[in-house]
Amino acid sequence: MNSHDGHSAKPRPVRESQSQMAEVVLPNDANPLGNLLGGRLMHMIDIAGALSAHRHSHSHVVTASMDHIDFLLPVHIGDLLILKSSVNRAFHTSMEVGVKCWVENYIAGTTRHVASAYLTFVAVDQHGRRHAVPEVIPESEEEKRRYEDAGRRRDLRKQELERRKAGNQIG
Ligand SMILES: CC(C)(COP(=O)(O)OP(=O)(O)OC[C@H]1O[C@@H](n2cnc3c(N)ncnc32)[C@H](O)[C@@H]1OP(=O)(O)O)[C@@H](O)C(=O)NCCC(=O)NCCS
Repeated sequence: MNSHDGHSAKPRPVRESQSQMAEVVLPNDANPLGNLLGGRLMHMIDIAGALSAHRHSHSHVVTASMDHIDFLLPVHIGDLLILKSSVNRAFHTSMEVGVKCWVENYIAGTTRHVASAYLTFVAVDQHGRRHAVPEVIPESEEEKRRYEDAGRRRDLRKQELERRKAGNQIG
């Protein structure tokens, strides 16, 4: 563990990590039917999530995991994809980031929710050594709910990781 102790840094409100990314879906992002590839969307989600993790930790980060993801609606070539992210909660060296993806129809002025995911990022220095991150201050009711939920999800992730590790040892 690096001596840099982020937890001694001042806690930061969620709003400081809020980020937004916009991308127009191009033919190279799509399958032969003209729908955005799931893997391409996951790549964008990873980048959008990392933006928030960087802003919260003021550090380099690596992606430790991406939780279950549902692709709710197809996204088409030419659609304007908006990805919004923020840090839900920081633990010791890791942070849970939520990313929500929307398609904006700029002609009709409407938006549709197309996917959401939770990712965990770990803060590292330039040598790849992990270090602590500042705590998160949830301010709004929504942020407080996400903060509490993030704690429950972390417990579930840990249990699942242990279960998989035990399974690998048997196999
Ligand atoms: C993620 C990584 C840094 C964890 O390192 P590790 O030595 O296993 O560290 P630990 O088990 O002590 O965990 C360190 C932190 O990561 C978290 N973590 C580890 N694995 C995790 C997982 N699968 N999901 C969520 N969080 C995870 C731990 O909960 C811990 O968080 P905390 O410090 O806030 O309590 C390491 O596995 C790694 O470098 N992975 C590759 C990352 C990468 O290259 N990503 C891009 C993929 S191409």
